[in-house]
Amino acid sequence: DMMKDLLGLRELEKKLEADLGVKKVIVVAGNSDQDNWVKREMGRACISELKRIIEPEDVVAVMGGTTLAAVAEMMQPDPKIKKAVFVPARGGLGEQVENQANTISAELASRAGAQYRLLHVPDQISEEAYSSLVLEPSVKDILKLIQSACTVIHGIGDAKTMAKRRDSVNSFIDKLNREEAVAEAFGYYFNRSGELIHKQRTIGLQLDDLGEHKSVISVAGGSSKAEAIAAYMKYRPSDVLITDEAAAESLLNIR
Ligand code: F6P
Repeated sequence: DMMKDLLGLRELEKKLEADLGVKKVIVVAGNSDQDNWVKREMGRACISELKRIIEPEDVVAVMGGTTLAAVAEMMQPDPKIKKAVFVPARGGLGEQVENQANTISAELASRAGAQYRLLHVPDQISEEAYSSLVLEPSVKDILKLIQSACTVIHGIGDAKTMAKRRDSVNSFIDKLNREEAVAEAFGYYFNRSGELIHKQRTIGLQLDDLGEHKSVISVAGGSSKAEAIAAYMKYRPSDVLITDEAAAESLLNIR
């Protein structure tokens, strides 16, 4: 029955908080590998968590991906945050338009009735282009805003799935195999122990910017992501992890 199911989810949350060293874990029913509505349920949980912590003029940085797109879908109008600003956390990580961080931050803002700013960066950017881009006054302005974000919301992916989705070259996929990459988040790849293997060069938040003063909400579900979630949480345990039952159960098995 429903009471028993809820107790089961609460128990999973408590176990995961202890295992992963994450302050708050929220587990929703289902498996997002199989059912798309589960992503929207994680999205709903993420929006209520965000509304609980957000201050009226906060800056919120968001990443891309299909899970974050589902988060944006669940945003409701909220006059309390009309001065809050949504920004992409990083630019140019190669997603379809609807799953890009720019699109998702604009979507969150327009649904909430809040503000947003865009960051325009090409997907593959040379060292030279990178250094001149960050000197552009308009880019500098938005980068400052992004750095000032107190809340960051992001997805986590399986390393190989993400490398393929980004049309990575074979030599890069070989490197990920050789170094046993399992997780991807923010354009960074990690191995099982949570060690950083590769950084994708782009502007915006860098991993080192995720200090203790930023509140990080990770949203990722599906049993296929269990290993990726475990690995990333070793690198930087999030303040809040929102996941689903299938990922939660697999997470407890691999630990
Ligand atoms: O590419 C942006 C990104 O946030 C990645 O960092 C992450 O691995 C991925 O999207 C998650 O995507 P999805 O929610 O579609 O699995």
